Amino acid sequence: MPGRDRITLPVLQAKKERGEKIVMITCYDYPSARLLDDSGADILFVGDSLGNTVLGYENTLAVTLEDILHHAKAVRRGTRRALLMADMPFLTFQVSPEEALANAGRLLKEAGVQAVKIEGGAPMVPVVRKLVQAGVPVMGHLGLTPQAIHLFGGHRMQGREPEQADRLRRDARALEEAGAFALVLELIPWPLAAEITSSLGIPTIGIGAGAGCDGQVQVFHDLFGLFPELHLRHARRYAEAGTLIRDAARRFVQDVRSGAFPGLGEQGD
Ligand code: KIV
Repeated sequence: MPGRDRITLPVLQAKKERGEKIVMITCYDYPSARLLDDSGADILFVGDSLGNTVLGYENTLAVTLEDILHHAKAVRRGTRRALLMADMPFLTFQVSPEEALANAGRLLKEAGVQAVKIEGGAPMVPVVRKLVQAGVPVMGHLGLTPQAIHLFGGHRMQGREPEQADRLRRDARALEEAGAFALVLELIPWPLAAEITSSLGIPTIGIGAGAGCDGQVQVFHDLFGLFPELHLRHARRYAEAGTLIRDAARRFVQDVRSGAFPGLGEQGD
């Protein structure tokens, strides 16, 4: 049972209605979940960006349902307040609504997530309907959808051309009508994101889509600088954790080699 302070779908909807911003951060393990949950973030999200950030893949396509289940279970154990949501990986929801429901069901039953996210517009309407009718909350994802990276030919801004922008407007409406509780808008021009946001009753969560969205999502490793060399235009670094860890590891290496560690009092019994 969600506790009194637990973030739920109605809490997120009320935030949209009151004009309060929603904060979502990707999360892939237990210690990070404890820290992020304490930060007051609204949604901890086990994204398939796990493929790039944690598993070292070039893109998200190789991520499996088992990968997401494994990490979501760990995040669940560290989450008390935030809403826990997991991504449905490539080909776990596109094949048929029935397969999508079976896979989403595993995320709810085995990992205890409260919602799932799927990428794609109007063609995903039957999937969203099927999941929502069965009681599975669904967040949609429009714009740059990384599972279609080969169609886009790279991480490019979407919706600059008038036809593309019209399609995004239609997709957003179709997903809301199908029962999605919120939408991620990724890498689309900020005026379009703001327009879509004000045209919908459900919240939008932007990434590279400007300040006019109802909330913002960022990837853990981008927020905290885990990859010191990677600078993304749509991400702001709130810490240099990568540099901090590498420098600390170098000092440890030196101390072991020089005999400075362990010192007196650090030798055990
Ligand atoms: O997988 C992910 O991290 C995402 C977010 C960027 C929304 O889809």
